[in-house]
Amino acid sequence: MRVLASAPAKIILFGEHSVVYGKPAIAAAIDLRTYVRAEFNDSGRIKIEARDIKTPGLIVSFSEDSIYFESDYGKAAEVLGYVRQAIELVKEEADKNGTGITVSITSQIPVGAGLGSSAAVAVATIGAVSKLLGLELTNEEVGRLGHRVELLVQGASSGIDPTVSAIGGFIHYEKGKFEHLPFMELPIVVGYTGSSGSTKELVAMVRENYEEMPGIFEPVLNSMGRLVERAKEVIISDIDRELKFQTLGKFMNINHGLLDALGVSTKKLSELVYAARVAGALGAKITGAGGGGCMYALSPGKQREVATAITIAGGTPMITKISREGLRIEEVLP
Ligand code: PMV
Repeated sequence: MRVLASAPAKIILFGEHSVVYGKPAIAAAIDLRTYVRAEFNDSGRIKIEARDIKTPGLIVSFSEDSIYFESDYGKAAEVLGYVRQAIELVKEEADKNGTGITVSITSQIPVGAGLGSSAAVAVATIGAVSKLLGLELTNEEVGRLGHRVELLVQGASSGIDPTVSAIGGFIHYEKGKFEHLPFMELPIVVGYTGSSGSTKELVAMVRENYEEMPGIFEPVLNSMGRLVERAKEVIISDIDRELKFQTLGKFMNINHGLLDALGVSTKKLSELVYAARVAGALGAKITGAGGGGCMYALSPGKQREVATAITIAGGTPMITKISREGLRIEEVLP
């Protein structure tokens, strides 16, 4: 028997960093997917084939007579940790510890770019392996197992990434509680800077500044929290699409400014954000922890123009939409 499952990447639409301080955040699944194929093997071992994992920053250097490839294998190895943990957890749940399983991964999601590649690979692995072992799990249950994988691998995690990857669509998150928001099409362009920031270090840096200047940081974080609540109101309201986009775009620009005030933007991120706005995006902001990684731009009717502007500004654009679907079983072969 062989099972192919896929799970989407995510973007944080509003509220990164302030979410760490108990404020709400909104995230959405996007149309970039990780595919995991699972099948039995006779060795009794776990075998992982990473066929195509997008790791950032292939660096090539030359000396007089040689070419050196310096890819970021550390990041690829990190991904494999999530896969292994996901398989072991599902085997344990199914009481099939001695079973040999081979998984094979291909992914459209750049690793370490703040798009939730680790969560997507964990969710797709849990989906494929649980089906293979005959466990009937709902997508929400897979999301919860994905959160456990993150806790085992990272030590700490809010759980927003695996949840949104497993159940898809929009999610409002506050203090550990998730709520599905009504689905809406958001024509967006994601711009990848080509480098990645460390979420852990950026969160620590914000914390340090916050502790040094609470009187200044507190109002910024509160504004971010209020912005998320206003964005939620707009998303669930029945005002027309155009006005919705305009208002959300305005909120995105304010949220970017506030993230910049926290110190998590970079020259490259801001260049991509401004390039997108000049090319006609209604709003553009960092998504995720910052310090590199990705920004996204809300660009109804202007996705091509915005993508071109991001390329010219030195980024990699990905024209994408919100993914209604989370974990998907693509194929089950006998
Ligand atoms: O690095 P990402 O895209 O998973 O985003 C991290 C979001 C933060 O709010 C900065 C951290 C967190 O734990 O919520």
